[in-house]
Amino acid sequence: MRLFVPFLLILVLFQRFLSPISALDFIYNSFNGIINSTNLTLINDAKLDSSVIRLTNDSNQFSFGRAFYPTKLTMIRSNSSSISSFSTSFVFSVLPEIATSPGFGLAFVLSNSTSPPGALASQYFGLFTNATVPSVSPLLVVEFDTGRNPEFNDPDDNHIGIDLNSVISEKSQTAGYYDSSGGFVPVRMRTGENIHAWIDFNGTSFEINVTVAPIGVSRPSVPTLSYKDPKIGNYVSAEMFVGFSASKTEWVEAQRVLAWSLSDIGTAREINTTNFPVFEAKSTANSLSGGEIAGIVIGCVAFLIICASGFYLFWRKRKEQEEDEIEDWELQYWPHRFSIEELNLATNGFSNDDLLGSGGFGKVYKGTLPNNTEVAVKCVNHDSKQGLREFMAEISSMGRLQHKNLVQMRGWCRKGNQLMLVYEYMPNGSLNKWVFDKPTKLLGWEQRRRVLADVAEGLNYLHHGWDQVVIHRDIKSSNILLDSEMRGRLGDFGLAKLYEHGEAPNTTRVVGTLGYLAPELAKVTAPTSASDVYSFGVVILEVACGRRPIEMAVEEDESVLVDWVRDLYSKGKICEAADQRIRDEYKVEEMEMVLKLGLACCHPDPQRRPTMKEMVAVLVAEKEAAVPADLLLELARGDSNSGGVGGSGVAQEVEQLQPPV
Ligand SMILES: *[C@@H]1O[C@H](CO)[C@@H](O)[C@H](O)[C@H]1NC(C)=O
Ligand SMILES: *[C@@H]1O[C@H](CO)[C@@H](O)[C@H](O)[C@H]1NC(C)=O
Ligand SMILES: *[C@@H]1O[C@H](CO)[C@@H](O)[C@H](O)[C@H]1NC(C)=O
Ligand SMILES: *[C@@H]1O[C@H](CO)[C@@H](O)[C@H](O)[C@H]1NC(C)=O
Ligand SMILES: *[C@@H]1O[C@H](CO)[C@@H](O)[C@H](O)[C@H]1NC(C)=O
Ligand SMILES: *[C@@H]1O[C@H](CO)[C@@H](O)[C@H](O)[C@H]1NC(C)=O
Ligand SMILES: *[C@@H]1O[C@H](CO)[C@@H](O)[C@H](O)[C@H]1NC(C)=O
Ligand SMILES: *[C@@H]1O[C@H](CO)[C@@H](O)[C@H](O)[C@H]1NC(C)=O
Ligand SMILES: *[C@@H]1O[C@H](CO)[C@@H](O)[C@H](O)[C@H]1NC(C)=O
Repeated sequence: MRLFVPFLLILVLFQRFLSPISALDFIYNSFNGIINSTNLTLINDAKLDSSVIRLTNDSNQFSFGRAFYPTKLTMIRSNSSSISSFSTSFVFSVLPEIATSPGFGLAFVLSNSTSPPGALASQYFGLFTNATVPSVSPLLVVEFDTGRNPEFNDPDDNHIGIDLNSVISEKSQTAGYYDSSGGFVPVRMRTGENIHAWIDFNGTSFEINVTVAPIGVSRPSVPTLSYKDPKIGNYVSAEMFVGFSASKTEWVEAQRVLAWSLSDIGTAREINTTNFPVFEAKSTANSLSGGEIAGIVIGCVAFLIICASGFYLFWRKRKEQEEDEIEDWELQYWPHRFSIEELNLATNGFSNDDLLGSGGFGKVYKGTLPNNTEVAVKCVNHDSKQGLREFMAEISSMGRLQHKNLVQMRGWCRKGNQLMLVYEYMPNGSLNKWVFDKPTKLLGWEQRRRVLADVAEGLNYLHHGWDQVVIHRDIKSSNILLDSEMRGRLGDFGLAKLYEHGEAPNTTRVVGTLGYLAPELAKVTAPTSASDVYSFGVVILEVACGRRPIEMAVEEDESVLVDWVRDLYSKGKICEAADQRIRDEYKVEEMEMVLKLGLACCHPDPQRRPTMKEMVAVLVAEKEAAVPADLLLELARGDSNSGGVGGSGVAQEVEQLQPPV
């Protein structure tokens, strides 16, 4: 330490001499002893955890955290024609709680604000808005991404990328380094291992070099990733905050920064990489001498051989008795595969006290995992293992769908022909319980509107937010769940597909629920996103009218909700359909708009239904609501003349509803 003092002094004097305008040159070999915001700006989840920065915490929620150096980095100096250069070096560690959960990673960021507007959690690093809307503030980011998102063109689940204002990288490269002989050595970034990263930015040549290597490996001379493009110049502002950001969903991933140095007057000082804390998955032995390790290894191997042969005999016997062994295909699929013992324990042996409900798909139990996370376990019976297998292939790709308005799947388990799907637990149950019958507490109008907007966003994500269109097929109020903040989440997506893999091939049954089914599905047509829109329209009407889609108790010509509302509309009395129990809460125009939206979605001609993008534009952006309502009025008018009339003019107008991209 003492050795450093004169060196530091010289540096400080040197930098004073060179440029009195705020040069940055710092080194934290550890974050020990930093107690307040003078030395580090921590945002949201980010906390100092003894000697390291922990960017996100152990909560099971969508969240993010950022850590910035409190002083901005000067990127454009008044007397200079080019952008400044800098060099930085840091040590980080990424350790997930469950190794097979989706990965997020962390990002090194230059931003002119410590809170970029519209920043999202999950795969957006707590920095970017989603892919469709570019971020406003200049963001120059190097991502260390530990998850693969095909919709962002990610090459794999362990890569480095250069991001300019968008989560879709300009250039990316698998993490690793080139050794002295030029061979590429991959580096896994999601094992908790401490990883050393170097970033060099040359503002004159618009070049960024990024290098990673495990600590202990000296700095490789060839960078892992090199990106050079003058357009970098568009993504810097005069002064920028510099730091780190990370985000996550319900899956816990610890993203840590252990040490950091940066300089804009030369090369960043070398970090002293001795004595770093070690982060690894629980239940792993640590720090043993070579002899001890050898002893343990030999012991373990012998023990394993004995166990394995014993187990093999046992297993063979068991296999003969029971057809329940894990098949190869079951191991390939993500998300997490639970064992039946784990689920038995979580649900108290599937006790009836924990039964949340039972529906067409089977029973649903409430469970509590060992880490106190509450889950809902849905048991689905199926008559063929083949059907389950095809279904799992789809479910596992859908397990990757993540959106704040979808009920997230946490894992699954199979026993015989029974499949158990584990979802996050929604404490407030399903929407129908809050709107129909005699609810203990009636949902107010504002909350209903918000839930509809939430569901529209979730469904829009399924239809348009992914590289393939995901059709839900069974949208209904009992499949819409309310989370702890009473926000709407769409559940059971994809589940309907299970029932399509019927016993005999090519005997696709119509799937869905009576009252919500689009009329074209009565013919042979396969479900489309337009048939989902129809079902969503029925949900809108249900929620606005406080009535089930088919009500047996009322007079016959009123029993089908959609027909009844349409009829009232053609008589110019659409507002009579509104739920009378909440009549003091809504503005008449607003109720009318929502009812018309519902009718527009239920147009008999699938071509003329709005898309979910349009629905989101109307339901979410409330200010614009007045404009489309009139257009939809036109649409609904064509409707009451039972199709054909109204013609292409209306269709064009609906086209115009599409928000500008
Ligand atoms: C910019 O101005 C500072 C002092 O104001 C000076 O030290 C530095 O050399 C100047 N840089 C250039 C490129 O002229
Ligand atoms: C932060 O701590 C330093 C001592 O390390 C002290 O001088 C300073 O006043 C503190 N600042 C704030 C904002 O508390
Ligand atoms: C924190 O910042 C203050 C003021 O800039 C500085 O004097 C102090 O040395 C810093 N502390 C650490 C641990 O870097
Ligand atoms: C995580 O951080 C958030 C603040 O961003 C806080 O509200 C929450 O209580 C924290 N959770 C845990 C488990 O520390
Ligand atoms: C960041 O830059 C953008 C565009 O240059 C500007 O509109 C915005 O006001 C800046 N924000 C801050 C906090 O400087
Ligand atoms: C980046 O790496 C290349 C190749 O090693 C080198 O020529 C270039 O000078 C480096 N640029 C920076 C900014 O370090
Ligand atoms: C940046 O690149 C330019 C042109 O290639 C070179 O002259 C300059 O020395 C580089 N600056 C730094 C700090 O590496
Ligand atoms: C690195 O730190 C250790 C103690 O943490 C110290 O013994 C060692 O001398 C340091 N190395 C250098 C090069 O400063
Ligand atoms: C992205 O966000 C915008 C506005 O917040 C929204 O309209 C759009 O549907 C979102 N896209 C996805 C894929 O979530």
